[in-house]
Amino acid sequence: MDQRRTPVLEAIEQYRTDDKYSFALPGHRLGQSIDDRAAAVLSPGAFQADVIFAKFAVTEAEQLMADAVGAREAIFTTCGSSISMHTAMLTIAGPGKRLLIDRNVHKSVVASLILAGATPVWLRPRWDHENEIAHPASADDVAAALDRDPGIDAVVMITPTEYGTGADVRGIARICHKRGLPLLVDEAWGAHFPFHPDVPTSAIQAGADLVIQSLHKAGGGLCQASVILVGSDRVNPVDLRLRLDLITTTSPSALLYGSIDGFRRRMVSEGRQLIDGALERANHLRARLSKLPGLAVMDESIIGHDSVAEWDPLKLSVDVSALGITGYQAMDWFDEHERLSLQLGDSRRVVCSLTYSDTDVALDRLADAFERLTTSPPAGDRPATAVPPLHELDLEQAMGPREAYFARTEMVADPAGRISAEMISPYPPGVPAILPGERFNEAVVTYLRAGKAAGMVIPDASDPGLEKFRVVAE
Ligand SMILES: Cc1ncc(COP(=O)(O)O)c(C=O)c1O
Repeated sequence: MDQRRTPVLEAIEQYRTDDKYSFALPGHRLGQSIDDRAAAVLSPGAFQADVIFAKFAVTEAEQLMADAVGAREAIFTTCGSSISMHTAMLTIAGPGKRLLIDRNVHKSVVASLILAGATPVWLRPRWDHENEIAHPASADDVAAALDRDPGIDAVVMITPTEYGTGADVRGIARICHKRGLPLLVDEAWGAHFPFHPDVPTSAIQAGADLVIQSLHKAGGGLCQASVILVGSDRVNPVDLRLRLDLITTTSPSALLYGSIDGFRRRMVSEGRQLIDGALERANHLRARLSKLPGLAVMDESIIGHDSVAEWDPLKLSVDVSALGITGYQAMDWFDEHERLSLQLGDSRRVVCSLTYSDTDVALDRLADAFERLTTSPPAGDRPATAVPPLHELDLEQAMGPREAYFARTEMVADPAGRISAEMISPYPPGVPAILPGERFNEAVVTYLRAGKAAGMVIPDASDPGLEKFRVVAE
């Protein structure tokens, strides 16, 4: 296929040069009605590209994407990987289906279970005691779980994690396929994987049947641009499109589609060099940070540690706990003192997502800021977190997520022993600490309340102050 083509961008340009006038939506008429103040912020170009008819060019753009990444089919979506995940899950799951799912899931997977009415069989991630983070489960873990439960209909993995550690997708796909099961991989952070050999193997090339990617995370798409990739005939693409049609907008944004088109063309023509540059800069940065006292920088030695099969060097994960502060505090410090926004802070670390867009100047600025943090770290200004060993956060799934979510509920201050009717997800990474149908224990309540006091952001709790929790009424 001619990968220099960008059908959506071409359709937008064509529309503008065709001297057409539309009495259809959108009403802003290519931005004619926006005022200068809005135009100054959003730019008139954004409105001039908001051409609804460009959606008819998407089929060809999707074929080019599938060709570029080695998929059978690609489907673009415009409400982030969340809607891609809902679509993919509704395709492989439905009422009564049983899914083996990595418990390290993003909240969109749990929402999908509620929508689909499917039953999760949780695959426990590997807890890295040394680093106090979870890595994806191993291929052996998947095989053992499938042996224990022959009624499983599909497998869902999240890889890589927000920390950049990845599963052995090839091995897991082989195990699933031996049993005739489809493998869905949430690869939201891996839009660059198909375009370079020194980042983790892209899940679609490793044999996954269905993969979702956010184009706005590690890629160059506008926010909410996402893609679903189909890798085999274990997934029916007609089902997939019908499920998407069920839940998505009928007025998709041409800007988002166009940004996917442009990203794919650039990656095919220059991705190798661009990512080469990004990797070189990331390695240089890591080397510089590793010399600073009080910082522990994750590097490729994490591969082989526990279940980690691959690692994305463009995730910069730095443990700051030896400076006497939490990652939450460090993240705030970067924001306030250095005007730098980082991707994630947790009880010990900060994580930066590095991309091919970052320049030497930007990375030097980051390194200089880390240097200042280590020479004069702030005094700890908040209570310590209480991260229990992961097994204490293994909660019993006492009721189906859908049943619990739609049950009669009540708010209680002391929920230990009660069944949750809500999802509570520290963000990022957005992995629910508890989800509907799981039974609260003391450890999870303490973890959430102490985390909140330490600066954890929890956007989805019914009571944002965590004084009370929503549980299934008795
Ligand atoms: C692993 C994972 N999956 C899915 C999503 C959802 O992506 P989006 O924000 O594009 O809807 C995220 C977002 O943080 C994520 O980290």
